[in-house]
Amino acid sequence: MKNSNKYCWIIRKEVTKMRVLKTADYNEMSRKAANIIAAQVITKPDCVLGLATGSSPIGTYKELIRMYENGDLDFSQVKSVNLDEYKGLPRENDQSYYYFMNDNLFNHINIDKANTNVPNGMEPDAEKECARYEELIKSYGGADLQLLGLGHNGHIGFNEPAEQFDKVTHCVDLQPSTIEANKRFFASADDVPKQAYTMGIGTIMNAKKIVVVVSGEDKAEIVKKAFFGPVTPNVPASILQFHPDVTVVCDAAAYSKVEE
Ligand code: GLP
Repeated sequence: MKNSNKYCWIIRKEVTKMRVLKTADYNEMSRKAANIIAAQVITKPDCVLGLATGSSPIGTYKELIRMYENGDLDFSQVKSVNLDEYKGLPRENDQSYYYFMNDNLFNHINIDKANTNVPNGMEPDAEKECARYEELIKSYGGADLQLLGLGHNGHIGFNEPAEQFDKVTHCVDLQPSTIEANKRFFASADDVPKQAYTMGIGTIMNAKKIVVVVSGEDKAEIVKKAFFGPVTPNVPASILQFHPDVTVVCDAAAYSKVEE
């Protein structure tokens, strides 16, 4: 897998059409991902965007805001569905994914907030909320493009490593490693919610196009496992190798173990 090019595309023809794009750094990763999303919005102005939270997509959202401010993008007809939400966090909590999306994207572009959707973490009836959310996505015809980050344990959305791939939106118990990774955003690990609502792997795989953004050396091991290793529910993101239209945009640090 040695590749000395500074920038490279790897098309994994042996199993899949997955494209893995290596960028110099986080900023280039963000620009590339934003360009792919921009192309989607330009070619289908009333598209459905599946959106993600976490530190990985923040730069991508900044780029989209810049393109909007330059007059190059119009989000007025776009609908959005977010991947996941913590159970039990009110929308006003600055760690809720609802708050994150408004703060990092929706407040800065001309999307109609009535067309933006995040699972309702305050609905205590998990079955009811998950069924409602899955139905809503179905009524939209699924996502045209789904943006994803990658958890250190290979989770996508909040689909944690498991014995099987969960198909639809469901309630999950967060793994200790995920609580540990996300505690940096809370006062302490005890304050991190222990459960979340998340789209299922099946919901994610139904998106017509998928873009994954991954950055940093701490993700290098999981990049290699998820996109170059066997497909297994123990590494949930590995299923993306079977999707017909996935682009992984990862910076050189996240890509570093692939080249070993
Ligand atoms: C979180 C989110 C995921 C996100 C992942 C990685 O727990 N539920 O959607 O992709 O962890 O986050 P980060 O990009 O901050 O590394």
